[in-house]
Amino acid sequence: MSLKDKKIKTEKSSELAVKCEGITKTFSTGDSEVMALRGTDLDVRKGELLLLAGPSGCGKTTLISIISGILKNDKGFCAVFGQDVTHMKEEELALFRAKQIGFVFQQFNLIPTLTAAENVSIPLIINGMDRKHATIEAGNVLEHVGLADKKSSYPLQLSGGQQQRVAIARAIVHRPKLVVCDEPTSALDGTNGHRVMTLLKSLVGGTDNAMIVVTHDSRVFEFGDRIAEMEDGVILRVGPYRKDIHGH
Ligand SMILES: Nc1ncnc2c1ncn2[C@@H]1O[C@H](COP(=O)(O)OP(=O)(O)OP(=O)(O)O)[C@@H](O)[C@H]1O
Ligand SMILES: [Mg+2]
Repeated sequence: MSLKDKKIKTEKSSELAVKCEGITKTFSTGDSEVMALRGTDLDVRKGELLLLAGPSGCGKTTLISIISGILKNDKGFCAVFGQDVTHMKEEELALFRAKQIGFVFQQFNLIPTLTAAENVSIPLIINGMDRKHATIEAGNVLEHVGLADKKSSYPLQLSGGQQQRVAIARAIVHRPKLVVCDEPTSALDGTNGHRVMTLLKSLVGGTDNAMIVVTHDSRVFEFGDRIAEMEDGVILRVGPYRKDIHGH
């Protein structure tokens, strides 16, 4: 890519929250290879909550992991708020991730030896807040997800749905520009699913944030501004949420 092309691309991409172009990713395990992403393009607008839907194994987690700088792609380009996360140096990327990205893992990934409040305070401490204030702030966010009485509990003392809400609190506590949630309601009942989605939706809008929510859950669809439909490593279409097509 020439310098001029790179500048044009970066300028264009800064108008969007996320711009992915031609992302490929192949996993090799032993003698077999899986091409999880096959030249995937995706735009996420500033201020929107974009849903990412598609069958199991189609590449959703792989794509959002690359967008979030957790996983390296093979080919292609992805910019998050104008910053090319696919070509950033490791140190710069670690800083960018810590400040600007909140990620809810499909398997929650809580640290078992830390309490709920301590787990949630991690992004704040990484960003330089002292432990005392970070724990207070973490407690406030835990109250917002309905876990006021579980701040001192360890992950193994919590139900799956409670652990999921701790993971969501941890992803939003430092007010990142981009929140990425992998199936955030999979372990939640109707009431808590609705509560969490209402909270997540209330956090997006304006020009300096956006959210991507991977979901199979039709109860979540009404919270999306648009739905990107993925199949076999590519995005087939992106459109507004429509009750008549997408159901619920
Ligand atoms: N670390 C890995 N090593 C090898 N193969 C992998 C790895 N991660 C993902 N894959 C493969 O890549 C493909 C896409 O996986 P991915 O986890 O992105 O799917 P998904 O759409 O998130 O599915 P689900 O809805 O079940 O979570 C699958 O075929 C999967 O088996
Ligand atoms: Mg997945």
